[in-house]
Amino acid sequence: MLEIIVGGFFGDEGKGKITAYLALKASASLAVRCGAVNAGHTVTFNGRKYGLRVVPSAFVNPNTVLAVAPGALVRLDVMSREVAGTGVEGRFFLDRNTGIIEESHVERERADARLSGVIGSTLQGVGAAMSDRVFRRLRLAKDFQKLEGMLTDVSEEVHEKLHGGETVLVEGTQGTYLSLYHGTYPYVTSRDTTASAFASEVGVGPKDVDEVIVVFKAYVTRVGAGPLPGELSESEAERLGWSEVATVTGRARRAAPFNPELARRAVMLNSATQAAVTKVDVLFPEAKGVREWGKLPREVRNWVDLVEGFIGVPVTLIGTGPNPEEVVDRRAELGFKPQA
Ligand code: GTP
Ligand code: IMP
Ligand code: MG
Repeated sequence: MLEIIVGGFFGDEGKGKITAYLALKASASLAVRCGAVNAGHTVTFNGRKYGLRVVPSAFVNPNTVLAVAPGALVRLDVMSREVAGTGVEGRFFLDRNTGIIEESHVERERADARLSGVIGSTLQGVGAAMSDRVFRRLRLAKDFQKLEGMLTDVSEEVHEKLHGGETVLVEGTQGTYLSLYHGTYPYVTSRDTTASAFASEVGVGPKDVDEVIVVFKAYVTRVGAGPLPGELSESEAERLGWSEVATVTGRARRAAPFNPELARRAVMLNSATQAAVTKVDVLFPEAKGVREWGKLPREVRNWVDLVEGFIGVPVTLIGTGPNPEEVVDRRAELGFKPQA
């Protein structure tokens, strides 16, 4: 069983928390992180908050093997700190072809006034490293002797687990509208961020994908420049409790109400089979910590029904707090296959 977790808006929808929940619940035997270090996934676990830029959010399950996709890009200093901080040595692997971002890439982006000024890039060197990869001069993990012990063939590992009937999670990064192809170009990241791109990054074809879970937040946030329909003023966002701070850059996230049209289109672009909606507890404080559909206030259930009506796929997971277990999981009652 292979599941892809993908963002439905502009990133930061809470993919980290949903992936952590699925890893614990589904006993995923392997989780593969895609994308690059400009994306920070927040996982709150056992009273600690982790801002993960390399290690898959599924690390919360000690039985899950963790890997980084061949199409992904990492920075080795960030990786070492995270591997130590999460204690995953021995079960964390890079693909031989994972791209390595070096200091020179970060410097090139910092020197680019348009990237920092007009686009509002995170300046983590991702675009510069991607361009070097296109020029076929980027160094990959296999070019670094010291990484030898943690290298593997991720696509072989994934296919082996799938043939054994095990569950594999593919953790996407950013969101559909930051996609280089499908987003609000030029205010986008340097990669495609839709489900097909993540399958390609890992090395699985479309027929191997069982579920695509598109993650939405109960409102929309965006960091950096670019259009945000219905954007609220900072004071209005503050008043509603929608103000957030970006995981990687510490910048304020801009906020707008839930956007049904963007959500509908994200379902289409990702061929989503189901949706997760996080931060429902921020919109409806009475939902905080609730874990059963029947215990959610009627107003909340009506809102979720409305969202489902717009987007055309079931909302199977509802986030009611930052901890992985703060989820209403409707998959069984909605007829989704129980997991391995
Ligand atoms: P990117 O890959 O950078 O797009 O990140 P992401 O999708 O993993 O999201 P990120 O962790 O950056 O931001 C989501 C924020 O919402 C984090 O602070 C989470 O702890 C928080 N969060 C996630 N789900 C819930 C929820 O259901 N309720 C509440 N209150 N907070 C949540
Ligand atoms: P870059 O990909 O770092 O160059 O940034 C380009 C645009 O994508 C900027 O608007 C960033 O704020 C945005 N962006 C990149 N990564 C993330 C992310 O993980 N979450 C939210 N926005 C992001
Ligand atoms: Mg984030």
